[in-house]
Amino acid sequence: MAFHDLKILAVRPQGGDAVAITFDVPGDAADKFHFTPGQYLTLRAEIGGEDVRRSYSICSPRKSGRLEVGIRAIEGGRFSGFASALKPGDMLKVMPPEGRFVVAPGGGGHDYLLIAAGSGITPMLSIAASVLEEEPESQVTLIYGNRTTNSIMFREELEELKDRYLDRFQLLHVLSREDQDVPMLNGRIDAEKLRVYAEKGIIAPASHDGIYICGPGDMTELAAATMRELGAPDSRIHMELFTPAEGSLPTASERAAKAETASGKVEVETILDGTRRRFTMDGKKQTVLEAAHEAGVELPFSCAGGMCCTCRCRVSEGKAEMDVNYSLEPWELEAGFVLACQSRPHSEKIILDFDAV
Ligand code: FES
Repeated sequence: MAFHDLKILAVRPQGGDAVAITFDVPGDAADKFHFTPGQYLTLRAEIGGEDVRRSYSICSPRKSGRLEVGIRAIEGGRFSGFASALKPGDMLKVMPPEGRFVVAPGGGGHDYLLIAAGSGITPMLSIAASVLEEEPESQVTLIYGNRTTNSIMFREELEELKDRYLDRFQLLHVLSREDQDVPMLNGRIDAEKLRVYAEKGIIAPASHDGIYICGPGDMTELAAATMRELGAPDSRIHMELFTPAEGSLPTASERAAKAETASGKVEVETILDGTRRRFTMDGKKQTVLEAAHEAGVELPFSCAGGMCCTCRCRVSEGKAEMDVNYSLEPWELEAGFVLACQSRPHSEKIILDFDAV
């Protein structure tokens, strides 16, 4: 998927050292940048002589005509540090929207539960605003965790939504380092709190049409497990991880042991936008993405950490195994999809189809 050079129209400071960046999409690229609420953009820049890519969720409502992402500064974060100095008129390389953590509003009335922490609010803001605007009979409950009031991203936008859709939008701010009058809103979003909300009828895990959870891995895994425990079927729970859960990253020796089982000299063929490219690689030493990069074969990627799914492809011949997978769903694994950034071949030849859907 090709990057487009987009001009920055506006940079708006947000709580928690974050910025909202709005892009100017030229008319001839407008079709490519139509998005479904919940999708993300991959941004690319040369920082300190290195090609750096990061994905950020679109936070604007679908019908607003705005293409905006929210970027929170991370300590030592190369891209977020770079982004905090961006200003209107600057150009950035931007890949068209991607991602399957989406709600496509428009069909009837639904009841959505959104659970977010920190910058996990970005896709939720787009989802909530789009649903409330486009589905006049739908209800949205958003549980949003932060440290303090000042670290809340998009606080004004959320309050505006609450005022505009008083009877259809329920918003709970949960703060871990600032006491609020209502004790059940103090602390982190955890299993106990979610159980209390369910007991009090604030949420109804077994009956929400869709439960969307986004934020750090620990919170998303825990919230999803609690939703299951409270009766939510798996098919209605959707997660987007911004960082892997603590303890879920393999150690260096676990990675090395996995790499050792991969095939040595492998012939790789990739299919991307209908074009076939070939190269050879050593699965014991590299992932498919690393080998492609070395061979000068451009493949789509962003996080390179198994979370964003930008490098998703289907194995149409041969066999591959992944070091980690934080984003592919069980049906995708069954259908033969893998993440190129995590895959090592386990056969002498492998064909990876990046056009498969
Ligand atoms: S590049 Fe993000 S999952 Fe592979």
